[in-house]
Amino acid sequence: MYYIVNSISCLKSLVLVLCLLTVAIHCMKIIPERGSITYVDDKYFYNASLSVRRNGKRGEYIVNVDLFGKHTIGNNVTIDIIFYEYLHNEFRRSFVEMHFKTCDMIQKDPFVGLIIRKSGLVTCPIPAGKISLKSMSLDVELPSVWPFEKGKGEMIATDNANGKMMIRGELVLTFKQK
Ligand SMILES: *[C@@H]1O[C@H](CO)[C@@H](O)[C@H](O)[C@H]1NC(C)=O
Ligand SMILES: *[C@@H]1O[C@H](CO)[C@@H](O)[C@H](O)[C@H]1NC(C)=O
Repeated sequence: MYYIVNSISCLKSLVLVLCLLTVAIHCMKIIPERGSITYVDDKYFYNASLSVRRNGKRGEYIVNVDLFGKHTIGNNVTIDIIFYEYLHNEFRRSFVEMHFKTCDMIQKDPFVGLIIRKSGLVTCPIPAGKISLKSMSLDVELPSVWPFEKGKGEMIATDNANGKMMIRGELVLTFKQK
């Protein structure tokens, strides 16, 4: 049993606790390359957009998401995040997935939730109307060994009341060990 702390910045954060609890920790940098909204049910959302841009010439890559909701969104909406590995020119579903209730994710999750809170979305339930996630940096410390370097993450929101997919978006990602 041993501890590996790969990054000084690891020490600054919440992750410290996890660093100490986890047998081995590899801090990763997640770089978004491009992304899109791949499905929208217009009963729930309209004018949805997702873009990736670089913050200055050599700056970090950031993600912006804008959309309008027609319903309040609370824990009655499930968020599934599914990761795919890019291998032999195709994306193959990996074993890495995350599943959340929307408000639990936004208010309590130390990774995905933290990224969302930092982008300005902190209140949940989310009222109907404009939803903006601004300048999301995916620079989080994951307390795990990431199993691949190139891939994509797909995020799906589902209405628990009827099992319908409300919206789906994806981001092509590179995972780099810090
Ligand atoms: C939604 O997009 C359409 C077409 O681009 C635009 O005309 C409309 O004003 C937008 N709605 C809102 C509420 O921004
Ligand atoms: C979630 O629940 C709220 C409050 O009960 C309701 O107003 C809203 O329409 C529901 N949202 C969805 C997407 O079903």
